[in-house]
Amino acid sequence: MQYRPFGKDRYPVSALGFGAMRFPVKDNHTVDEDAAIELLRYGIDKGINYVDTAYIYHDGRSEEIVGRALKDGYREKVRVATKSPGHLVKNAADFDRILDEQLRRLDMDYVDYYMFHGIGKAGLEDIQREKLFDSIEKAKQAGKIGHIGFSFHDNTEAFISICDAYDGWEYCYMQYNYMDVAKQAGREGLMHAADKGISIVVMEPLLGGRLANPPKDVADMMASHHLQRSAAEWSLSWIWNHPQVAMILSGMNSKAQIDENCRIADSAVPSFYAPQETAFIDQVQSVFAKRAVIPCTRCDYCKPCPEGIDIGWLLELYNDSVMHDNVGAPSFAYNTFVPEGHRAEDCTACAQCEDRCPQNIEISTWMPKVHETLKRT
Ligand SMILES: NC(=O)c1ccc[n+]([C@@H]2O[C@H](COP(=O)([O-])OP(=O)(O)OC[C@H]3O[C@@H](n4cnc5c(N)ncnc54)[C@H](OP(=O)(O)O)[C@@H]3O)[C@@H](O)[C@H]2O)c1
Repeated sequence: MQYRPFGKDRYPVSALGFGAMRFPVKDNHTVDEDAAIELLRYGIDKGINYVDTAYIYHDGRSEEIVGRALKDGYREKVRVATKSPGHLVKNAADFDRILDEQLRRLDMDYVDYYMFHGIGKAGLEDIQREKLFDSIEKAKQAGKIGHIGFSFHDNTEAFISICDAYDGWEYCYMQYNYMDVAKQAGREGLMHAADKGISIVVMEPLLGGRLANPPKDVADMMASHHLQRSAAEWSLSWIWNHPQVAMILSGMNSKAQIDENCRIADSAVPSFYAPQETAFIDQVQSVFAKRAVIPCTRCDYCKPCPEGIDIGWLLELYNDSVMHDNVGAPSFAYNTFVPEGHRAEDCTACAQCEDRCPQNIEISTWMPKVHETLKRT
């Protein structure tokens, strides 16, 4: 495993961190706890020393499962990160109460990294208005948390203003991959954080898996390249090529994915790409960009839907049909496995989900098109 310096204490963090947002599930929903614990320990045994969870992941179960997985000596081998859920923290009292609840769920009296979750311009305003920088510093002084940071979803301008708003940031999480160079914080944001000495963690490096399963034209380009990298390898290695990136978080849900990502993490050192490799990724990017998919990464932050619609799943089925020019299998899944009453046509356009979507997707506008594309013909 490759290790890179991270945060103010230059912790040698594994270049690959374990994201606990996508544990294996049994019935498209319930976490398979035994499998999740086995996987997390498997990753740690392979050298991963950073685990990322959050209050909201897996409907609140992720923190509990991480806590259980880190028994039997595993806690000492890793640093743990979790996040303050901005949409539930309305004031300092909420902040304190929820942090204590998180420590109980994790069964820990201290968490190494604590951050404001998924903030953007509005999130920063809430933090400033409710004086939550004071709250997070008090939690640090009380020995409940170690290092302060933020995870981010918004545009470059918002990212830069957040970086500049507080001197205590040690690290930030940003969505970054070869399709997001000019989206979200983007390359400009990445450079800004690096210049300020804020360590960078990349999340959604495969766009939730989409970049690991590209459309045929992109897959063909990769297959004919002499380097013979998998689609996941092209994406991850391109990110690790950035010396500004300390760590990539990936939500792996099989041992094969852990094996592959650890193997890539071993060799993809900063600035190892030849100019031809960078040029190849530029070509891939332009072919990929022609596919007008919905920018959903199935993070499920949109949940719960009052109609019980599994929004991320339906958007993924739609995207699969567009990316692979084939509606057959997605349509079969939609008509066979999505229960009546919970299909895209059942969206009432209440738009509660849109307030929570980190990608700003106009979900209620897409739903009729999703149904029209996937419905039985
Ligand atoms: N703070 C925030 O706002 C925020 C937001 C999002 C994520 N995060 C954190 O960042 C972590 C990483 O994000 P992410 O889970 O979206 O990462 P990601 O790597 O973009 O997506 C993970 C998915 O990619 C696929 N995958 C991973 N490795 C693969 C490989 N070698 N070959 C083929 N497919 C592979 C798997 O999809 P399949 O299941 O389809 O196989 C996996 O579920 C999360 O787990 C979470 O901890 C934070």
